[in-house]
Amino acid sequence: LAISVIGVPMDFGQSRRGVDMGPSAMRYAGAIQRLEALGHEVKDEGDITVEKFNTEDQLNTNLRNLNEVIEISTKLADKISEVVAAKRFPLVLGGDHSIAIGTLAGLSKNYENLGVIWYDAHADMNTEETSPSGNIHGMPLAVSMGLGHDALVNIHDYAPKVKPENIVIIGARSVDPGERQLIKEKGIKVFTMHEIDKLGMTEVMNQAMWYLRDREVDGVHLSLDLDGLDPLYTPGVGTPVPGGINYRESHLAMEMLASSNLITSTEFVEVNPILDEKNKTADVAVGLMGSLFGESLV
Ligand code: ARG
Ligand code: MN
Ligand code: MN
Ligand code: MN
Repeated sequence: LAISVIGVPMDFGQSRRGVDMGPSAMRYAGAIQRLEALGHEVKDEGDITVEKFNTEDQLNTNLRNLNEVIEISTKLADKISEVVAAKRFPLVLGGDHSIAIGTLAGLSKNYENLGVIWYDAHADMNTEETSPSGNIHGMPLAVSMGLGHDALVNIHDYAPKVKPENIVIIGARSVDPGERQLIKEKGIKVFTMHEIDKLGMTEVMNQAMWYLRDREVDGVHLSLDLDGLDPLYTPGVGTPVPGGINYRESHLAMEMLASSNLITSTEFVEVNPILDEKNKTADVAVGLMGSLFGESLV
């Protein structure tokens, strides 16, 4: 593959400092070399610039750092569509999960019927009305479906970016009441920890992939929040939830995706080195990238 690595040192989508260092931590953990060792042609495109606005420029809203998120999402969307148009595979290093707003906006320009696998403890489907926190990292899936603040929903001047029936959530175990309602209303496919325990990861991944193939998707984006794993393995995240996916199950999931050839773009988000133990979470992230990009196939 020709892979373009894009760092997004973003921490405006939530309130804990440090997640802006995620891209450095994953580069330090050897992300680029790991993929090169598999024979891929890897281009590090550097980081998207992330800047704080003046307080007097803030929009009147209860969404934390809305201006910054709009600006950065737009820049990231531009970059992503440029990379995809150049026939390169985008690998985005976050940053908090609000960056998925920009990633999906950029991808949607190039795909007619994009599928999304959301590997996460959370559904990230809150809107301004349902959010318990005002944190935009809890909203990217809602925004991408066209629900939420106008300025976020309409990045690149159209909405929605993703169809609800093309989304699969894996690993959910902390879902807010408004998100539950939206999941029901839109009939979104969710494999919670309950299904992973009951069916096993092999069956969950097979069902997830067949579900997307049946939707006749023309690409699948894997959005991997490191808090999808149990905090035993990935302690360096801002919103850890116990009872998560384990290390081997996560590698198995990545290996199955690798042999399926379904995935056309990915992002690894929420790595926070300040909250981590000796860069353990970035190490796990890079290991998972190894599996996703074909380590078990060589
Ligand atoms: N549901 C909670 C909220 O809306 C937590 C979201 C956590 N999201 C994440 N990407 N880690 O604030
Ligand atoms: Mn489209
Ligand atoms: Mn999460
Ligand atoms: Mn998330």
